[in-house]
Amino acid sequence: MSTSPTTRADVAQGTPSPAAAPACPPLLDDRVVVVTGGANGIGRGIAVCAARHGARAVVVADLTCDPAGGGATTVDLVAQAGAQGVFCATDVTDRPALDALMRVCAELGGADVVCVNAGIAVPGDGADISGEDFHRLVGVNLDGALATAQAAAAQMRTRGVGGAIVFTSSMGGLRGGAATVGYSTTKGGIGMMTASLAAALGPDGIRVNAVCPGIIETDLLRSSPALQPTVAPLVGRTPLRRMGAPDEVGEAVAWLASERAAFVTGVCLPVDGGLTAVI
Ligand SMILES: NC(=O)c1ccc[n+]([C@@H]2O[C@H](COP(=O)([O-])OP(=O)(O)OC[C@H]3O[C@@H](n4cnc5c(N)ncnc54)[C@H](O)[C@@H]3O)[C@@H](O)[C@H]2O)c1
Repeated sequence: MSTSPTTRADVAQGTPSPAAAPACPPLLDDRVVVVTGGANGIGRGIAVCAARHGARAVVVADLTCDPAGGGATTVDLVAQAGAQGVFCATDVTDRPALDALMRVCAELGGADVVCVNAGIAVPGDGADISGEDFHRLVGVNLDGALATAQAAAAQMRTRGVGGAIVFTSSMGGLRGGAATVGYSTTKGGIGMMTASLAAALGPDGIRVNAVCPGIIETDLLRSSPALQPTVAPLVGRTPLRRMGAPDEVGEAVAWLASERAAFVTGVCLPVDGGLTAVI
């Protein structure tokens, strides 16, 4: 790589001059960011990253504000990271609750970024998953995700300033799994929801993307006995040879939601240490 100063010829060829380049604002400068399922795990990572990247306010929407593992709540961590943290009790399967969530956002100036992250896994997922469990998965992971995105899009369209919706899908949405028959079906659906909503909302300046986390160390993983036997072998096959951390998903979400990704919509980005590249 050249270390010589940028020349006129470089500029003519499109190499930006460091002296002329404006300072980069923080990724989510002054944005109002909403994260469903934000009390724990990946949602917590997304919320805290958003605050670190300059968000003005982060609305944490979850069934309860108490993190399953105890300790500081996400809104406390958001405040420590420099943003206003607001908790809003929200069940994503309850449309009136989502409308109430969007009213909270409106009071803060309107949601610029909505992270559709709430999701569940069920024990006993596999070829013999019960109809009841399958419909529970669909209820939260697909119905809840669509309702959240619809509520977000309605507010963004009314404001007329565009916005970003980022789903948390899964590597299970890109690859099938014997122990995730129902779960992977719902996450695969998120992939098409992402592509289709990107097409539908793009003309309004609303970008829609998804992250597909691999093995991330969270309560969802710890509390899913059916997944446990598959975790160690999958970590062993992950090119980076480790589980990911919720913050690492949060970093990818922050970029996708930011203006630096202004021409990116309809993508499902693996955040998986390379796992889906090799399985
Ligand atoms: N942990 C992983 O390895 C992994 C990998 C790929 C994708 N994901 C996805 O990431 C997302 C977050 O998972 P996690 O691992 O952080 O799980 P988690 O269990 O630690 O956190 C999920 C959060 O969602 C909330 N939630 C559940 N049902 C809800 C509802 N109806 N309304 C509102 N909130 C609800 C829970 O209260 C919880 O706080 C999920 O969509 C999950 O499918 C996780």
